[in-house]
Order: sequence, then structure tokens, then C-alpha cells
Amino acid sequence: MKRLGVNIDHIATLRNARGEKHPNPVFAAKKVIKLGADSVTIHLREDRRHINDLDTKEICALNKVLVNLEVSMNSEIIKKALRYKPNYICIVPENRKEITTEGGLNLKDNYKKLKEIIFKFKKSNIRTSLFINPNLNDIKLSKKLNVDCVEIHTGKLANYVKSHKNFSSELNRIKKSSKLASKLDIEVHAGHGLDYKTTKILTKIKEIEEFNIGHFIIGESIFYGLPKVIKSFINRVYSVREQRESNLIKNKVAFFSKRFAAKEAFAKALGTGFRMKLNFKDIEVVNDKMGKPNYVTNKKITKMIQNKFKIKKYNCFLSISDEKKYSTAFAIIQS
Ligand code: PXP
Repeated sequence: MKRLGVNIDHIATLRNARGEKHPNPVFAAKKVIKLGADSVTIHLREDRRHINDLDTKEICALNKVLVNLEVSMNSEIIKKALRYKPNYICIVPENRKEITTEGGLNLKDNYKKLKEIIFKFKKSNIRTSLFINPNLNDIKLSKKLNVDCVEIHTGKLANYVKSHKNFSSELNRIKKSSKLASKLDIEVHAGHGLDYKTTKILTKIKEIEEFNIGHFIIGESIFYGLPKVIKSFINRVYSVREQRESNLIKNKVAFFSKRFAAKEAFAKALGTGFRMKLNFKDIEVVNDKMGKPNYVTNKKITKMIQNKFKIKKYNCFLSISDEKKYSTAFAIIQS
């Protein structure tokens, strides 16, 4: 299951440029959720250059809006975060002169301080994440720090992709870090500098469960509008039909997590994984009148199966089960 969190700090930057009230970040928070995002991210910086205390208080108090609050290790900010009680916290490094968060936390140097902060957030039942660089040592330290999640800094990968440089080593670091984190039962998120292309590359790492994206979504929305841009990100994972069906379902997390497991199972049965131009949205799952799920066969999938197994006719079978926190799926392709 992949979720989209939209960082709305840039709405506050725009508002602050005039020192007035428009555009309003609280309205933006409600709007992005209405448009299909799973959560909003805001960063209460020590210098308050975008989101301010009142925004944070009001956004955290919104009903039906899951809020991911980014905070530094500054004790005044930590106190405020504990008071405003967001659903999620992401601890990030902060440096006054930076234009944006430039890299992950230094976990080794800040180990003791982080341990105390994480303890406080977890005691308040706030899901806590650390913004880290993709390396295995930091994943192991995150485990020792007892966080729920890590958010992998994808800025380096995004820069390589945008400047048409070879990004395979960086991608490999992200893959390995994500796999280890998931093995250690740490939920994996990714963020920084992501656009359509980098997000699409990263959707193939199955361990990444959440993308937090800001600058590109808000920037692109100036030209194409927020509804279209958010939809374009969601479209990178789920088909139009699946999205339409999800609108009728109350428990969207369970709905998408079952679809996600079914897509994974199909890619495994085909034996290619998400390579050879196979994308998540190529594999569609529908339920018949009795509720039985099955795959939709389209031209692309048929061609891939025929080429891979050297067969003309085939059948697909799918079985999905779910528990409260897990979904599993089995797929069979029969000649
Ligand atoms: N995730 C974290 C932890 C961040 O600090 C930021 C903003 O720096 C983002 C995601 C979003 O990055 P961007 O605005 O480049 O999409």
C-alpha cells in the first residue's frame, strides 16, 4: 500500500510574501485531503519562515485530516508539537541558512537527544519518524532508537534524475535501506525533491509505503491546478476504475492494501516483478457480483503473458485475504 502526503509549507510561503491571510494553509490542508491525499505534511521551523504556530494549531485540530508535523530537535518546538498533538511526527535536521532540508539527520551524534524525544512522542501515542539518508547504519540506529518509521531523503536521487546523471547506485542504496528497514519492522517513507518521474521510479520499491511531496505538487499546480496534479500522482499507482471503486468503500486503507498485494502477487506470478515496462496500474483488480476478486485482462498484460510463457490462452486466479494490519494475495497464471 502506498500513501501520498502533501507538504503544504509552500502555501504558507506564498501567504507570508504578502503578510496577509491568503492563500490559507488550513484551507489547503482540507483541500488536499478532499482531493485524495492521505495526509498533509507541515514543518514548523524554528525561524517560522512558512508555517506558523497558529497554522500548526489549527491544522492539527482539523477533523479527518491526518497531519504529519516535521520538527527539529529544538526543545521549544518539541514542546509545541506535544501540545498540538499531530497524528504523526517526522524529526528532521534544521539549519538556519538552508533553503530547504538538505540531508538526513546525524543519528550517531544526536543519539541520546533523539532517544529522549522519540520516547516523549511515543508516550503521547504519536507515530514517530526520522528523516534519514539512505544507509544501512542509519536504519540499524533507527531500530535502536525505537522509531515507528523512517523517511528516506530522496534529494540526491532526484537531483541525479533531473540532471540526467546515472542514479543507479543511489537507487540501490534506497532499495537496500528500505528492505532492511522493512525487515526490522520499521515503516518506510520517502521524500524530498520528488516529481512524477522520480516518484514513478520509487513506486517500484515495494517497501516504501508513503511519499511526502511538496514543492513539485504546489509548483505544478500553478499551471495545472491542485486537483489535476494530485490526481496525476495517485494515477501513477492505481487505475481509474480502482479509484472510482475506492470512493464507494469506507475503509480505503484496506481496499488499497488488498489491491496492492494483488498487484505484487501478479508481478511475481509473471516472474518479471515491476520491470520490463510493467507498472502497478497495468494490473487491475475487480470484484464480481459475488465479491470474488479477479484480474482484468488487457492487451498489454495478455501480450506479456503470451511472450513470457509462450502460450496463447491462459486463465488468471486470484485469492486475497486480509487481517486488521495485513493483506496477502495469491495469484496463479494457468496455461
Ligand atoms: N519530507 C521531508 C521530511 C521534508 O523536510 C520535505 C521538505 O523539505 C519534504 C518531504 C518535501 O520535499 P519537497 O518539497 O522537495 O517535495
